[in-house]
This record gives sequence, structure tokens and C-alpha cells, in this order.
Amino acid sequence: MEFSFTTKSHEETVCAGKRLGKVVETGCVVGLIGDLGAGKTCFVKGVANGLNDVPVTEVTSPTFTILQAYEGDVPLYHFDVYRLEGVNDLGDIGFDDYVYGQGVSVIEWADKIIEALPEERMLIEIKLKADGNRYFKCSVKGEKHEAVLDKFIKRQGELIYG
Ligand SMILES: Nc1ncnc2c1ncn2[C@@H]1O[C@H](COP(=O)(O)OP(=O)(O)O)[C@@H](O)[C@H]1O
Ligand SMILES: [Mg+2]
Repeated sequence: MEFSFTTKSHEETVCAGKRLGKVVETGCVVGLIGDLGAGKTCFVKGVANGLNDVPVTEVTSPTFTILQAYEGDVPLYHFDVYRLEGVNDLGDIGFDDYVYGQGVSVIEWADKIIEALPEERMLIEIKLKADGNRYFKCSVKGEKHEAVLDKFIKRQGELIYG
């Protein structure tokens, strides 16, 4: 199952993230794939706000710390694995405990550690288009993530931002 949409501004990217944050569930893993400046962190700002009411200004790429947790009924684990050498470094940060745990994990630069991701997950590729818009393509594996994508499509498919 796949779903794609385009955002035309920073606000629309945050809003799309918010909509995903409203429908993700315990145990969800969301890998974000896209170049520097694609809009990965911008999208996570929305997820953190939608899931746990985190103010969007508080969410930045955990580039040096690798992981930032946002507590809530369902905690959000925000990873930025850009600086990791590879999957071997993941043991040091207890990666599996998070992605197979009860929170929601969102991983920037997921392509760098793709083989370490759980088989059941959502992947979101973000592309910067020539006109500056961002093109998002979501794909999922596994029943839980399919159900989440279904709910996300119902919200996001309306393409009304605000
Ligand atoms: N649809 C969009 N149109 C224009 N700018 C956007 C859009 N989505 C996000 N941005 C901007 O792109 C910039 C880079 O986003 P960021 O989330 O930091 O990228 P990444 O984490 O992928 O490196 C930010 O300044 C953000 O406001
Ligand atoms: Mg980032």
C-alpha cells in the first residue's frame, strides 16, 4: 500500500506530520528518507505535536545526541542517525528496545540503517521538487502500519491544511 502527497510550505509539512501524529499507535516505526533540507525534521515537529502536544519550536534534529524522547501516553522516540557509522552503532543506543517497544519511533535518515529496521514499518520518502514543493511518498508493511496509513490517508487525503 502506498500514498503520496505534496506540501507547498513549511506549515503544510508540519500539518501533514500532525495528521500522522494523530493516528500513529504504540509500536509504530516510521522511517524518513530524504536529503538534507528535504523536510524530515519539519515533518517530525508535526508528529510530536500531534501525538504529544510538543510545541513545534522544541523539536530539532537530534544530530549529535542521535535520540530525543518526547514523553506522553505513547512516548515518541525521534532518531537522527546521520552521524552513525552504520548499523553496528545501534546496539550502543539500545535501538531495538525502542523500535520493538511501546512508543512510536521516527527515524531521520532511515535509509542509512534500513536493514536494522523492523520488517513492519512505514517508510516516507521526501523529495524536494524544482519549484520548492516537497513530494512525500509513504509505504507500509504489516497490518498495524497498514491500518495507520489508512487513517492517515483519510485525514491527509482531504488535503485541507490548517
Ligand atoms: N513544502 C515546503 N516548502 C518549502 N519549504 C519547506 C517545505 N517543507 C519544509 N520546508 C523547509 O525546509 C527546510 C528544511 O527542513 P528540515 O526539516 O530541517 O530538513 P531535514 O530534516 O530533512 O534536513 C526548513 O526550513 C523547512 O521550513
Ligand atoms: Mg533533520
